[in-house]
Amino acid sequence: MSRRFPRPRDFLPLLKFKRPTLNPTRRRLEKALTIDDLRTIAKRRTPKAAFDYTDGSADDEISLTRAREAFRDITFHPAILRDVSTVDTTVNVLGRTAALPFGIAPTGFTRMMQTEGEIAGASAAEAAGVPFSLSTMGTTSIEEVAAAAPNGRNWFQLYMWKDRDRSMALVDRAERAGFDTLLVTVDVPVARARLRDTRNGMTIPPTLTPRTVINALPRPAWWMNFLTTEPLAFASLDTWSGTVADLLDTMFDPTVTFEDLAWIKNQWPGKVVVKGVQNVADAVRLAEMGVDAVLLSNHGGRQLDRAPVPFHLLPEVRKEVGDAVELHLDTGIMSGQDIVAALALGADFTYVGRAYLYGLMAGGRRGVDHTIGILQGQIERTMRLLGVTSVAELQPEHVTQLQRLTARG
Ligand SMILES: Cc1cc2nc3c(=O)[nH]c(=O)nc-3n(C[C@H](O)[C@H](O)[C@H](O)COP(=O)(O)O)c2cc1C
Repeated sequence: MSRRFPRPRDFLPLLKFKRPTLNPTRRRLEKALTIDDLRTIAKRRTPKAAFDYTDGSADDEISLTRAREAFRDITFHPAILRDVSTVDTTVNVLGRTAALPFGIAPTGFTRMMQTEGEIAGASAAEAAGVPFSLSTMGTTSIEEVAAAAPNGRNWFQLYMWKDRDRSMALVDRAERAGFDTLLVTVDVPVARARLRDTRNGMTIPPTLTPRTVINALPRPAWWMNFLTTEPLAFASLDTWSGTVADLLDTMFDPTVTFEDLAWIKNQWPGKVVVKGVQNVADAVRLAEMGVDAVLLSNHGGRQLDRAPVPFHLLPEVRKEVGDAVELHLDTGIMSGQDIVAALALGADFTYVGRAYLYGLMAGGRRGVDHTIGILQGQIERTMRLLGVTSVAELQPEHVTQLQRLTARG
């Protein structure tokens, strides 16, 4: 092998110095190619108690682990030689078009994760043309969300609590503020056991103890934001100081039944989604009641641990309810591939909870935009690689669910 001196003519074209990104948030987000990457950044930047409140789930966290595994345990079946130069990701959900087949799930106490909270979520959703859901336990008021995303599609999530009049007063406010859909969450008859929160001594609002102060030292930006912006509080509820579990147990009404749901449905002029459905019989009963959508969900694994994986329930529920009702799904979605798989197996629409919150914690509004951008890119690429150009073309034949656990008997 003969060698020679490197010649500038040869190596200069190889030098590609990128102009540095000066904005630190942008620089940070550029490195995140996946939702997992955003989670890593979020963990670094957020105090442990707030990060664990978001990232954690109930008891042994088996529900969430299984839900995420279920999405990975699939095979996609592509078709070849199709013209996939353009791809249409729009769907019709509850009577209107959404630009992408997912929306933002309702999450409580969002400004604790990052101070821009629901405003970042609602405005990013508006810009992307997808629905945003505000939780009863939100930290931004109904009216503020409406003002932040006046052209967005805002949905309100209702927890029925013991004081019916106050629950329904919130529903009235949501209607007046132009929210067009009510998500009634039905999987919280009582609070779950959130072990990470208990171990962290997590309280609302977060308290400064020697432990939290030490944990705060490497996360100055979060604390700076926290201490220099509007104090953290539930926007729709009275102030509370104590643990989340105690709050839930004092508030939530374990006597709520299908009759109460029918009553709520009668009060609300818009669309009704029932969130937290976990078996075929309940889905069929709700379809018969005439709700607009059934949302298969185990609350991101935050309620009953070892609950069924919603993604596993999907094919059978779809078979049983037919086209009588829209079928929505959440829990465990960490990529656009997960969303495509859910759509192929019969979901009409999906929601992301933590994927949105990881983006929020990693970079506020820009971080939420980044989450949406990552998911959109993954959805479009996966559809093209499958040989489909519209969501309606996604069919069960495109996905096989692999069985990791098999029920006995
Ligand atoms: C931090 C956090 C708070 C949540 N708060 C609520 C809530 O107030 N109301 C509700 O119906 N669901 C709530 N959820 C559940 C989400 O709406 C959604 O069902 C779940 O996050 C979906 O799973 P994923 O996080 O894997 O996407 C919360 C989830 C998280 C992670």
